[in-house]
Amino acid sequence: MEIINCDVAIIGAGGAGIRAAIAVAEADPKLKVALISKVYPMRSHTCAAEGGAAGVIKPDDSFDFHFDDTVGGGDWLSDQDCVEYFVKEAPKELIQLEHWGCPWNRESDGSVAVRPFGGMKKQRTWFAADKSGFHILHTLFQTSLQFPSIVRFDEYFALDLLVEEGRCQGLTAMEMRSGMIKQFHANSVIIAGGGAGRMFPFSTNGAIKTGDGMALAYRAGVPLKDMEFVQYHPTGLPNTGSLLTEACRGEGGVLLNKDGRRYLQDYGMGPETPLGQPQLKTMELGPRDRVSQAYWHELQKGNTVSTEWGDCVLLDMRHLGEKYIKERLPLVRELAIAYLGIDIVDKPVPIRPVVHYMMGGISTNTKAATVLPGLFAAGECACISLNGANRLGSNSLVELLVFGKSAAISAIEFIKNLPEPNRDALEECAKESQARVRDLFSRPDGGESVFRLRKEMMDTMEKNAGIYRTELGLQEAVTKINELRQRYQRVTLNDKSNVFNTDLFQVLELGSMLDCASALTVSALDRKESRGAHQRLDFVDRDDKNFLCHSMAYFQGLNQPKVEYLDVVITKSPPGVRDYSGGHK
Ligand code: FUM
Repeated sequence: MEIINCDVAIIGAGGAGIRAAIAVAEADPKLKVALISKVYPMRSHTCAAEGGAAGVIKPDDSFDFHFDDTVGGGDWLSDQDCVEYFVKEAPKELIQLEHWGCPWNRESDGSVAVRPFGGMKKQRTWFAADKSGFHILHTLFQTSLQFPSIVRFDEYFALDLLVEEGRCQGLTAMEMRSGMIKQFHANSVIIAGGGAGRMFPFSTNGAIKTGDGMALAYRAGVPLKDMEFVQYHPTGLPNTGSLLTEACRGEGGVLLNKDGRRYLQDYGMGPETPLGQPQLKTMELGPRDRVSQAYWHELQKGNTVSTEWGDCVLLDMRHLGEKYIKERLPLVRELAIAYLGIDIVDKPVPIRPVVHYMMGGISTNTKAATVLPGLFAAGECACISLNGANRLGSNSLVELLVFGKSAAISAIEFIKNLPEPNRDALEECAKESQARVRDLFSRPDGGESVFRLRKEMMDTMEKNAGIYRTELGLQEAVTKINELRQRYQRVTLNDKSNVFNTDLFQVLELGSMLDCASALTVSALDRKESRGAHQRLDFVDRDDKNFLCHSMAYFQGLNQPKVEYLDVVITKSPPGVRDYSGGHK
């Protein structure tokens, strides 16, 4: 097996991964960075982000406001030391991007333009029309090209971490075009592999978001934290699940039920505001969990609109006018025309909530370090405890910058004064990883089908782990996912070739998703309260006495994960009431 030696190996070349790579290269050009990704970097999911990135910049805003919005929006499950650090670092990172060439929208006086976003009491979301993720990723990518110490391994699928002598010392990965497995020996590893929304059938997530990074860490003994918190974005296209950015509402779009009523006023987010004047933090700018839950209630009441794509509510942006839409929401217009044949200039567009983001992930401390020495994580795959039980829109693009950089700093610090690696032991470890893949090729034909297992997983998650959950449904999900994980042991490949074997990658991705789904459903069953995005019809209240804590799911092989709890860090904001009525104070 070929060995590639580096100082820092980074798994994932989206926003967090590239930001980390740049931070290592800037800190010490002598450190070799291997940037490993299963897709070409510009195809990473960061590219699909639309609405923008939050950071305090205007004179009427403050770090305290951003802190309060994030902590309240997260239903007090965020670690407040982490939030305090984040809000201060956020503007610095956005200005850094500006200096690297990110084309932020501007006010007429030349200053950076910001737009309102859900759950934020001040306007603080920087944006580049509705293609912010594309521009951020492109800026990072082109910046990374100037550093010769960053060596890219595009289209390499990470298989296993190499853990020896109690620390992470690299990984194995398959070069997808040849099927060759290679060893990366690294003094530290950063996982930045993105989320796992593809466990669900209806998602804004690109097909690549299959939780591979989460599963790598989890199987190596690192707990997955707060996995039960899955964010539904309120406005997805009803057929493809494509995102219609929250900026539609930030710019003044309104949500209507079948009677043309702005129904959010019936769910504690009123009073109704005049068209074109969004009242920050209320109505259509309520937080995502509440707005998605309101849809569910409208559906139960029979207030949704029946469309050829299923039940929907309507997002009306006609009053914004063509000129404004062209300037601020060109992609939204394009998407609605392309996929529904509807021009938002002339007609309201049907939408419904769609799985968008995992608040949970690889448990890290505020410096992006996991409990496994030498292993760090950042971006959506990580749970650094910034977002609590419900992330506010536009915090995640900044999260990946702030904590991608932190992960790099921690990784550099870690590799100082390390002993020489035991190469023979790493080789043995890599051989086990290779054997695991070989086993898939040697199974007799006619076993379980990856497509059938995946469909059953998705159906289970959709039915039982959605916006509202019950004991019975979650128990059913835990049992089913358990069964699927057993059956997965008998999955067989139809394609036994080496070159771009997409059949193999789908099998590996399914294995990751099933492990994540197991952690998610068991953690959700255990959390007998309603908080943020985790809503139980049988435990309708938040229970701070018993559940003001993070769930920590530990991998137990084919058995169910063990779930333990960790206290939330409260520094200055004791749990309070989330009030989204009547505008901000
Ligand atoms: O709606 C959006 O543009 C999504 C933003 C986010 O998830 O932060």
